[in-house]
Amino acid sequence: MISYPDYLRLLPKAELHCHLIAMMRPDMLLAFADRNDVALPSRDIDALIDSDNLQDFLALFVTANDVLRTQDDFAEVAYEGVKDAVRAGNLRYREYYVNSQNSSAYLSYPDFMDGIIAGLRRAEDEFGVGFRIVNAINRSLSPEAAVEMVREMIRHPRAEVVGIGQDHLTADGGEDPALWVDAYRLAAEHGLKRTAHVAETMPAEPDSVRVALDHLGVDRIDHGYRAVDDPDVLAYLVASGTHVACTPISTQVLSGWAPSPDHRIATLIREGVPVSFSTDDAVFFRTDLGREYVDGLIGMGFGPEVAKQISLAGIDGAWCDEATKARLRADFRAQHLVLDALLDTEVSSGEH
Ligand code: HPA
Ligand code: ZN
Repeated sequence: MISYPDYLRLLPKAELHCHLIAMMRPDMLLAFADRNDVALPSRDIDALIDSDNLQDFLALFVTANDVLRTQDDFAEVAYEGVKDAVRAGNLRYREYYVNSQNSSAYLSYPDFMDGIIAGLRRAEDEFGVGFRIVNAINRSLSPEAAVEMVREMIRHPRAEVVGIGQDHLTADGGEDPALWVDAYRLAAEHGLKRTAHVAETMPAEPDSVRVALDHLGVDRIDHGYRAVDDPDVLAYLVASGTHVACTPISTQVLSGWAPSPDHRIATLIREGVPVSFSTDDAVFFRTDLGREYVDGLIGMGFGPEVAKQISLAGIDGAWCDEATKARLRADFRAQHLVLDALLDTEVSSGEH
């Protein structure tokens, strides 16, 4: 017999919203800074990592980008990050948000991507964890720079690099999804998938979800929580059937929204939105994929049926080919059978 928290940790997982930079463990961050002679704001890990708002967090995100300078640096972060997530939460497939713009002073676009691909390929060979890569627009840079980023992707296609997304915030600290229309149109014209970070925290507008759907033509949404605060936007999102890649622990860190049955993510799930769980920025939010499921689902009051639904939704929302998805589904269902057989039945009957 296993406990429900163990069941949740052991569930096979597909993670769709994971910023590669933030898989870097603190010891690695310090070592890369030393190796590449980069000054850090502090060498005290707690001082470096603790943030309780998006602006402070983004300062750390910039620092972390800055310590990585070579192809091998990126390959190492990528490989180690897979290993950590297999251990912490039975990761089986993941999509990475990377940022070629932030490294353009040190690495050409193809060198940047090929370093990451090499690290992820090595991890796939050793641990069987599949992957795809999504290039994120740094929203603090200009819309023209975002278009140029997409042009680079088109000039140097890689089978592993399947779409665009976003990170950071706009120069004035907002989301403003409409700024990126040209980049998203170009991406769509060239068959790239599209996702956007919208409606994440209280200052963000619920309507950003509608703008992302209508004007950016997104295939998926990251965060999207504030949609719950506007019934029309929520109804629009539900009707669209769009997958939302949610990150429970980051909402607790950045917005003080502890997992509970009235958490916005719980509402999205109850409304029938296809939701998956991810870490967002694992190390910087002091989380891991297992904890997202354990704290998230138990806090929101969901039992094993919803847990399995979330686990499979990560495959549905993924941007890999259908044959890979079919293989993943079969593997997940087999593991679900084993875990269901092991789960203490007292818990199974406590389903919400
Ligand atoms: N990570 C990186 N960039 C971001 C995030 C995040 O969680 N939220 C808004 N911009
Ligand atoms: Zn994110």
